[in-house]
Amino acid sequence: MRIVSGMRPSGRLHIGHLSVLGNWIRLQSENECFFFVADWHALTTSFDNTEAIRENRREMVADWLAVGLSPERSTIFVQSEIPAHAELHLVFSMVTPLSWLERVPTYKDQVQQLGEQGKDISTYGFLGYPLLQSADILVYRADAVPVGQDQLPHLELCREVARRFNHLYQPVFPEPKALLAKAALTPGVDGRKMSKSYGNEISLSGEQGAVEERVRMMITDPARIRKNDPGHPEVCNVFTFHSSYSLDEVPEIEADCRAGKIGCVACKKRLAVALNSMLDPVRVRREQILSDRDYLDGVLEEGRKKAAAEAVRTMEMVREALRI
Ligand code: TRP
Ligand code: SF4
Repeated sequence: MRIVSGMRPSGRLHIGHLSVLGNWIRLQSENECFFFVADWHALTTSFDNTEAIRENRREMVADWLAVGLSPERSTIFVQSEIPAHAELHLVFSMVTPLSWLERVPTYKDQVQQLGEQGKDISTYGFLGYPLLQSADILVYRADAVPVGQDQLPHLELCREVARRFNHLYQPVFPEPKALLAKAALTPGVDGRKMSKSYGNEISLSGEQGAVEERVRMMITDPARIRKNDPGHPEVCNVFTFHSSYSLDEVPEIEADCRAGKIGCVACKKRLAVALNSMLDPVRVRREQILSDRDYLDGVLEEGRKKAAAEAVRTMEMVREALRI
């Protein structure tokens, strides 16, 4: 199968991204994968603040490689370096009714949400966000797209656009299907969804001390006042994390908590140790990667070449179909 997926350059990733990245890493061993930094998409909401985009791009790709995305197996590149994404977006903008874009559920919500934060996002480009995404996918004639639940409406639009193009001209595009990552919605340290904008994330690249600090902030079972009060792991965020990251220790932690045999301070220490031992090798690889500027540039240049070759081929088919 041919797989395409992208991520906006949000900079350093956090452990909430691990489920999506784990999915990418599994897919790359048996499929032809294209993974890219969606830097044009970053402009849709941050057109007035572009100064961080380049640096964020590097930080993010370093995280991808540090957790195990492989430039030998996958084509890893930057969206804005492949002009065909923009070209195909233009073609699609000619054939896509406005109403299709206006009814994408995330659209009105986001315009309103950002509007309330004082940000006017009623631009042409933001309305076209999912159409650019469709071009990203279809320019590689992808069969499948690993995405989170929130992206399903965008993928549905992508399929509709492919269908419409094929019907109007010639069958050029497959209708890509969504590959949903296992719904591992990692909560943040405050129990809300993990997100940099809430400041509740555990960064992949944070120092050990930063991880300890974040774990200390976590809210535990409020019914436990003394350390030998019996606890209720099912209401405790620390336990949610243990369940994901402490593996074989989980039954013991659960039993000790219920029996009041482990205090929350000690329990949190154990969690910090588990997280840090998971993150240690990632930190080491990330450092290595970022210490060698040429290496990362080389990976992205190699990816650019491979992606461009494929995208150019698609655009030839598109021009042929359009008779232009
Ligand atoms: N919209 C996606 C997100 O916010 C990022 C993205 C852009 C993407 N283009 C894509 C994802 C193409 C999959 C395929 O997460
Ligand atoms: Fe949560 Fe651990 Fe405290 Fe139990 S002992 S309430 S699992 S932090």
